[in-house]
Amino acid sequence: MTDPVSRETSGVPEAPTPASARGVFGAERLPLAERYAELLATDGVLRGLIGPREVPRLWERHLVNCAVLAEVIPHGASVCDVGSGAGLPGVVLAIARPDLSVTLVEPLLRRTTFLAEAIAELGLERCVVHRIRAEQLHGTDRYDVVTSRAVAPLSRLLAWSMPLVAPTGALVAMKGSRAADEIEEARDSLSQFGCAEPEVLSLGGGEPTLLDPPTTVVRVVWDRPV
Ligand SMILES: C[S@@+](CC[C@H](N)C(=O)[O-])C[C@H]1O[C@@H](n2cnc3c(N)ncnc32)[C@H](O)[C@@H]1O
Repeated sequence: MTDPVSRETSGVPEAPTPASARGVFGAERLPLAERYAELLATDGVLRGLIGPREVPRLWERHLVNCAVLAEVIPHGASVCDVGSGAGLPGVVLAIARPDLSVTLVEPLLRRTTFLAEAIAELGLERCVVHRIRAEQLHGTDRYDVVTSRAVAPLSRLLAWSMPLVAPTGALVAMKGSRAADEIEEARDSLSQFGCAEPEVLSLGGGEPTLLDPPTTVVRVVWDRPV
């Protein structure tokens, strides 16, 4: 899974492109993913957006880990990525899935500056960044899918994200091994917001195996879409 396939083309010797990356990005979009990996490993580290120790594991832990989310996002969907940070998973999804319209929501200037530069450099025409907190978008737009990774516990995430979810849309939160516990801890919020029973999905671990361990995702939809 981690066999390098293009050490020379990645331009980042510390983070050679694994074979799994070809599976999730496809041959056409792989060069963009490689350029993004390079931006993270250089500017991203220099600007303190990503730790230097993350560089050798950029692909498995960050890019491929986020790209497998594409599996649960419908064709042509509008996606809002809450708390994008350096673009994870939002920029990765915009690279892997040019059919998506991706809105990155991130309050911190240092991060939105990096995101705007990355979007321009990668030519991601259907990707925009808003320097704002998710709550400040409530009552404005709603999206088919609202993603997040490492932003807040599920209960707080529901409060920030569900008002942004379209009537037939879904919150898709990347969570680790505590996913089931977080669901239990969020019972009050789930009923307060009128959510259906959440699903816990394991992505990237099937055949062919892209990730070990796979990415755990919590998917929440409205109980009664209106
Ligand atoms: C730990 S970082 C994770 C960044 C990225 N998602 C990742 O996985 O690398 C959490 C991010 O959420 C952002 N954030 C915190 N509160 C937020 C809010 N209310 N709305 C949107 N973003 C928020 C922070 O500025 C930060 O960039």
